[in-house]
Amino acid sequence: MINALRGMKDTISPNSEIYTHIIKTCTKIAQNYGFSFIETPILEETALFKRSVGESSDIVGKEMYQFIDKGDNDVCLRPEGTAGVVRAFVQQKFDKAGGVRRFFYHGPMFRYERPQKGRLRQFHQFGAETFGEASVKEDATIILMLKEIFEALGISYKLEINSLGCPTCMPPYRTALVGFLDGLEGLCEDCERRKITNPIRVLDCKNEHCRSLLRTAPLLLENLCDVCSSDFETLKSILDSFDMPYVINPMLVRGLDYYSKSAFEFVSDEIGAQSAIAGGGRYDRLVEFLDGKPTCGVGFAMGIERLMELVKMPEVGRDGYYIGALCDEALSDVYRLTIKKRKEAHVDTTYESKSLKSHLKIADKLYVKFCVCIGEDELSNGTIWIKDLESKEEKTIKIENF
Ligand code: HAM
Repeated sequence: MINALRGMKDTISPNSEIYTHIIKTCTKIAQNYGFSFIETPILEETALFKRSVGESSDIVGKEMYQFIDKGDNDVCLRPEGTAGVVRAFVQQKFDKAGGVRRFFYHGPMFRYERPQKGRLRQFHQFGAETFGEASVKEDATIILMLKEIFEALGISYKLEINSLGCPTCMPPYRTALVGFLDGLEGLCEDCERRKITNPIRVLDCKNEHCRSLLRTAPLLLENLCDVCSSDFETLKSILDSFDMPYVINPMLVRGLDYYSKSAFEFVSDEIGAQSAIAGGGRYDRLVEFLDGKPTCGVGFAMGIERLMELVKMPEVGRDGYYIGALCDEALSDVYRLTIKKRKEAHVDTTYESKSLKSHLKIADKLYVKFCVCIGEDELSNGTIWIKDLESKEEKTIKIENF
């Protein structure tokens, strides 16, 4: 028997109904906020992720499904959605056209991580990206949109926010941080490497010993330039005015290298160690890193499998019809009626004649609202027998009135 690969899984009913419900809910809300659907390829040039997510990140350094294709191209399965959307934005010359554009997307992402609860090698994201809007109000809008999505899905969460500064305040901070790190002894191997490749990521280390060493580290939040500081204050005041609770986490750096200014993460304490259900932030340099005209950007992505653990599905009542034949002579009329009725409603059937009791049992199991049967009497009178499985009311009606 051939099984799905480790860390990859099938989504089958009833889970597929939960998946569809999440996508539908997110799509509706994203459209209300002015985002339009974008679909980008799952396979992209490896260079795209090296230049955006960053060579020093774990995603690019350790987790890519990368290979050389038959045309000798270095390609990989996308580990995230933002880079592809930015590539499409530049390829379509939207950067040259100017103005504000908003996109949302959903689909599979691939990271060769160690699988565990909530951590898959193929997982799905719903994400959204805004281009060309410099105002921090857009960062707040995106967070408020996520609030609305989680409320609609019945999911509780905690929001953490931070600012990662800009080309004015980040470089002097980085120098100060490296100076601090150089004076430390006993950092883990990963941190020693990150100190050289991307020192900010040291702040994010999960190792207890590193965390204790970092307690007195200089914080970027205390060293922001005036613009970044004022933007962060505005972000907080908008969130306050919409009763959006948050925690400031000065150690939140995110696992992708393209962020500047606002960074945020939504976490849940109901799904175990892999608690991040959504993450995002501003990436004002990314379009130019990918050869576009400098254009600011801000966005988020959420992990659908993690949301599926938390979502409260709306109550669904009985819906649709089940049509059955009580004798072989009625089979073709039942078949014809089923196909016709499907133009307006959900209809189930079986291709064999059965007793009334058997049909009612099947209809009940399918959770339809009406069970319809045609037998010898109905055939000769041009009628159908119909039972409302909710009210238990039953009657015989002319077939043309069905
Ligand atoms: P990310 O934080 O890497 O951000 O991923 C976003 C979400 O995807 C996470 O919060 C988590 O729910 C889910 N996720 C990540 N890895 C896995 C996994 N191995 N298994 C299951 N779920 C996972 C990004 O991907 C950025 N592109 C977000 C963004 C968009 N920033 C700006 N725009």
